[in-house]
Amino acid sequence: MTSSAFNPVPSDGVTRAVTVSVTSQTPTDATLLAYPVTTANDVGTDVGTGPEGLERLGFTGRAGQHIILPQQSGPDVVLVGLGDDVSVAALRDAAAVAARAVPTDTGVALSIAGFSDFDHAELAAAMVEGAVLGRYTYEELRSEAKAIALQQVTLVVDDAAVTAAQAGAARGLILARAAAMSRDLANAPGGSLTAPIFGELARSIAESAGLEATIHDKAALESMGCGALLGVNAGSTTEPRMVVLKYTPDNPTAHLGLVGKGIMYDSGGISLKPSDGMHAAMKMDMSGAGSILSVMSVLRELEVPVAVTAYLACTDNMPSGSATKLGDVLVSRSGRTIEVMNTDAEGRLVLADAIALATENNVDAIIDIATLTGAALMALGPLTAAVLGNDDDILTQVEMAAELTDERVWQLPLDERYRPWLDSDIADIKNIGGTSAGSIAAALFLSEWVEDTPWAHLDIAGPMRSETVEAWRTKGATGFGTRLLAEFAANFVTPEN
Ligand code: BES
Ligand code: ZN
Ligand code: ZN
Repeated sequence: MTSSAFNPVPSDGVTRAVTVSVTSQTPTDATLLAYPVTTANDVGTDVGTGPEGLERLGFTGRAGQHIILPQQSGPDVVLVGLGDDVSVAALRDAAAVAARAVPTDTGVALSIAGFSDFDHAELAAAMVEGAVLGRYTYEELRSEAKAIALQQVTLVVDDAAVTAAQAGAARGLILARAAAMSRDLANAPGGSLTAPIFGELARSIAESAGLEATIHDKAALESMGCGALLGVNAGSTTEPRMVVLKYTPDNPTAHLGLVGKGIMYDSGGISLKPSDGMHAAMKMDMSGAGSILSVMSVLRELEVPVAVTAYLACTDNMPSGSATKLGDVLVSRSGRTIEVMNTDAEGRLVLADAIALATENNVDAIIDIATLTGAALMALGPLTAAVLGNDDDILTQVEMAAELTDERVWQLPLDERYRPWLDSDIADIKNIGGTSAGSIAAALFLSEWVEDTPWAHLDIAGPMRSETVEAWRTKGATGFGTRLLAEFAANFVTPEN
């Protein structure tokens, strides 16, 4: 595989080939029809056996469980467990389990008939997301694909729900496509997806997605005074990029700034990381930037009513004779000086310059997304992102988008009492705090550049990656935050202060 043949977004072709259809009839041409079932084991249709029979076969309706029941005529049935309660999130998970139950089938049919308590647009979107993301695999660097791609998702719904479900299913497919693209970008090796290649990709995506693109190269960053990003790049033989993308709808109701950490590979720099599995995962240290690029690619299709400008700070973080040394002082875009006390705390450096550009543009709010601290992974694990911010209204909007997409967040306090930990003896600030509260210290660092702009910071160091196949999360990059940010942008309202 030569680098010129490398496709950074292979699943774009795969997800664009997926068709979704909505019907109120049992699809006779389907090979398999999935029914979500709670632990009450009430299937609601004749599948040849009742609750006791199912239990004897080991199926209790627990979340994550499934059982295939071959049928004499019509599609085979797969029952998928929801757990005790029905929720849109549980149904999304069930759709993923169903889509994987017969991994060689190119189509899957999912019944959501009877689930009348839910908004069918929302539910249909979730089902399509679950099925498409549940079947995601990264095949770009294999000689031959190992998995068979999903091509068709059929939703069986009640008569009255057909129209709403059709619209929702189409929307779900767009969101799933963005999330799959985000996984591709994070799964791509650091040597294959460099900052300049990411910049070129952003330019071509911008063209097809109706965005304005400005890709600042190293010379531009020097004249712009982006000394923090340049300081992180100093050890690398590959140039950095600041990717700026702008989406403008007709008559925008507000202007949102999205800022992404794009560390294409984080070796730690002079503060070199140990050669372990976590280090190998650092090709995914651009997950934040990747998720924003993916979101930007679908804003027009989603008819998002607000203008969105993205700032993606891209470079790798390498040790070498030219690398930034501990104790060096960087002058950031805002003029604030930073003493670098650990070159592995590089994310906050590149974000500082990107945030400065967003505030100069007078956006109404900033959301940044970053694989920022191991401490966030330690505190919340691989399923939940940390969120911190300076504005309750924005934080509430983030929580609502997290709820809608089941990309869960948990708020940590932006506790100013820890701010003195970042005091430097010789510069305005240093880039590490104490030995505890690592995620809070990182956010306090960022808040200096944000100043008064309403802001929320998503630390996705935990959920960027999954070690197991579980519901809509497949092994490897999860694309976490992509659907969340898309929903956030779609529903964004400027906070009134
Ligand atoms: N990219 C890492 C954080 C990370 C760790 C992301 C694990 C995903 C999984 C970040 O640049 C980093 O190395 N942070 C340091 C900061 C410390 C030196 C203050 C960390 O968390 O150890
Ligand atoms: Zn680092
Ligand atoms: Zn990093």
